Order: sequence, then structure tokens, then C-alpha cells
Amino acid sequence: MKGKNFLKLLDFTPSQIEQLLDLAADLKAKKKSGTPHAYFPGKNIALIFEKNSTRTRCSFEVAAYDLGMHVTYLDPSGSQFGAKESVADSAKVLGRMFDGIEYRGFSQEIVEELAANAGVPVWNGLTNEFHPTQVLADFLTIREKFGSLKGIKLVYMGDARYNMGNSLMVGCAKMGMHFVACAPESYFPDPSLIAICKDIAERTGATLEFNTDPYSAVKNADVIYTDVWVSMGEPVEAWEQRINDLLPYQVNTALMNAASERAVFMHCLPAFHDLKTSIGREVGEKFGLDALEVTDEVFQSQRSIVFDEAENRMHTIKAVMAATL
Ligand code: CP
Ligand code: NVA
Repeated sequence: MKGKNFLKLLDFTPSQIEQLLDLAADLKAKKKSGTPHAYFPGKNIALIFEKNSTRTRCSFEVAAYDLGMHVTYLDPSGSQFGAKESVADSAKVLGRMFDGIEYRGFSQEIVEELAANAGVPVWNGLTNEFHPTQVLADFLTIREKFGSLKGIKLVYMGDARYNMGNSLMVGCAKMGMHFVACAPESYFPDPSLIAICKDIAERTGATLEFNTDPYSAVKNADVIYTDVWVSMGEPVEAWEQRINDLLPYQVNTALMNAASERAVFMHCLPAFHDLKTSIGREVGEKFGLDALEVTDEVFQSQRSIVFDEAENRMHTIKAVMAATL
């Protein structure tokens, strides 16, 4: 995979995804045992963030330092990117100075254009359409929990037409898993992406289901996954409609109990599971709710593996950089 971009999971074969997970597991073991793995001394990477981040930025930074590299962080206001200089020109400039570039921002087209012009590997740290490094971390976490990915039933509750729903559907199709999007019909992924994933699923033995009924959707599920109902970059006015539409899909204890006995709860984070954030408090108080996409009871329960998932962001992002540099 040397020299390859990491823009979306559609660009990778099931065996390459498995190799990235194996490499991540190996690098994780090295980190835990204190075995040095600074394989890229003197390399420099740029991190472009047009949207905020805790996990993704820290994962790229820590992973880069562990690999012996240097990091430059460009925040949403601190560079000319996109505003005063085109994506293509910025890509050419950064490609002359850096060995790899991470991009988090808006449309997938931007990260694709960056990659087409940079001449060095570009890694997608989240776009509106896809969040592929998150899915690698999710799959490493599922593999650690259940031993393998094939045959695992993952139910995505909520806004399934955005970056997380799309990426999980692609990942599940690639890895022979059973993917269920559970939401009102208007929140299902784009039909053209569904068609691509159905085609992949025919070859891998995966199944894809689109269900509007939460209780039938989670039957025998191994993983119940959700994400925020209003994503970064979307207007605050969206909350009212989303709450009306998605509240029946909130992950609560009754729903977890309707899944397989071994079912786990997953969330890419950050999560609105209580009123301890400014946005959660504002929205929660306005609509009379003490939690949004997941109840605090589920979030804090034994079944919740969200912090393993968060840690695995770092190990999997390290694998992506190590494999492509
Ligand atoms: N899950 C995730 O991408 O988190 P951050 O927004 O904190 O990077
Ligand atoms: N769908 C969320 C994911 C955050 C990691 C967002 O785009 O804001």
C-alpha cells in the first residue's frame, strides 16, 4: 500500500483492510509493551483541519510521534487553504514540503482533489460523506471483542446517510458483515452508494438491510452503533426536525436488551448522552430531553465499548500512515 492514499474504504480490498487491522494490532502490542517503532525518522506530515477534532487530531499527532515523525497542524482559520488559495495549489505546495497530508473538512471532492495534486499520500480524517479511519478503529475493536468480523451483525441507528452510516455500510459490505441501517426512510444512505455496496456484498457474503423499525432491526444484533443526529457543519436549526424524526431511534436499555445477549454499544464520539456539554445542555433543555442519540445508562453500561474504540483510533491511524508512507 506504499504511496497509496487513504480516502475511502471503497478504494481498498477486503484483504488490504484486514492487513491494515493486523498491522494496527501489531503496532498496538508494540506500544503496550514499550517496544520502539519509530520507523519513519525525519518524515514530516501536515494535518489540515477545517472542522474541530479531539480524537482524530490527537491520534494523528501521537501516532506520528511514535513513528518518529514531525507534525504541522493547520487549524480551520490558520491557513490559506480553500479561502485564498485553491485546493489544488495548496496540495502542490504542501506536497513539496511534507511526506503525507491528513485532511478533515467538508465534501469528499476536496480530499480527492487534494490527493490528485499532492504527490504524497493523503489521508481522509473525515468528510461529510466518509470517515474511513473511524471505521478501521471500529473494526479493530469489534475484532478484539468477537474474534473476527465476518458474520457480525451491526445495526446503525440514526442518520445513516452521513459520513458514519455511509462508511460503516461500505466497511460491512467489504468485510462480509450484516449491516442494518435503522431510521426513517429519508435517512437511509444514497441509493447509488447502496447499489455499489450491494454489488460488493454479493462477492463477500455480506448482507445489507434497511429497516424503519428499531426493535425488529436489532434482533440478534452483535453491535448497536449510533452517532450524533446533527453533524459538524450542519445548521443548529436542524435539531428540531432531527429530534422529531430520530427520537424513536435513540439507543436505550430496552433496545439493547432486544439485541443479542452479547451485544455491545458503539459510538464514534463525541456523544450527547447527558447534559454535561454546552450543546447537549442547550438542545436537551430546549426539547426537554436528558440525552439525545444514546441514554447515559447505555453509554455508561458494561456493554459500552466506546473508549476502547476511541483508543483504537490511534493504533489504526498509525497503521494507515505506516502502510502508505
Ligand atoms: N470520532 C472522531 O472523529 O472524533 P473527533 O471529532 O474528536 O476527531
Ligand atoms: N457525524 C459526525 C461524526 C463525528 C466524528 C460529524 O460529522 O460531526
